Amino acid sequence: MTRTLERPLSVLDAIYTRRSIRDYEPVAIEKSTVRGLIDAAVQAPTGIHAQPWLFAVVQDTAVLHRLSARAKEIWIGEHGNSYPSPTTSGLPNAFISQLADPTFNIFYNAGTLIVICARETSGFAAADCWLAAENLMLAASALGLGTCCIGLATRALNTPEGKAELRIPDDVTAIVPVIVGVPARDAAPVSRHEPLILSWQ
Ligand SMILES: Cc1cc2nc3c(=O)[nH]c(=O)nc-3n(C[C@H](O)[C@H](O)[C@H](O)COP(=O)(O)O)c2cc1C
Repeated sequence: MTRTLERPLSVLDAIYTRRSIRDYEPVAIEKSTVRGLIDAAVQAPTGIHAQPWLFAVVQDTAVLHRLSARAKEIWIGEHGNSYPSPTTSGLPNAFISQLADPTFNIFYNAGTLIVICARETSGFAAADCWLAAENLMLAASALGLGTCCIGLATRALNTPEGKAELRIPDDVTAIVPVIVGVPARDAAPVSRHEPLILSWQ
């Protein structure tokens, strides 16, 4: 299911209107739509045209809940009984208090998780996967769908249990987890720093 847009978004519209969405309608998106997003993802450029990516899709709510719980355990467990500190974890305060909330789902109840993986993590493979992720998110935006990268999930996905759950082979690494769904509401724009241009000769 996708929102009907009054007119197709241009690439610039999609770039400027895409937001990380953290509240979703409880509906699954169709398989053909997911497939279309993956097809858009693989149009990204790759170093030496290596196309190093592999994809895992989760639309099973029980699996998403299990992964969310495991990811939270990893983040909290690593910091003992205390909350992780923003300075040592690199996580903002808002995430830290959310992690301790048993009802918090790191996937924000989105119905679909697409994990972009790579067999090789050396060279440009990770960069290639991130470029694919941006393509996927812009394509989703153009269809009126919401997305959010969920970096919090990466470590749980790369545990033996996480890999077994998603059938990710041992020699493959989950690089970018992206949730996709129908936004329950629009997200406010997030301001950007003025780009710091070091030189322009
Ligand atoms: C590498 C990476 C990891 C991220 N991990 C998370 C995450 O775990 N949870 C989350 O809610 N947002 C996550 N985000 C989304 C960012 O918080 C978001 O992109 C940023 O706040 C800017 O907002 P915008 O995407 O709406 O422009 C992540 C983004 C990136 C690029």
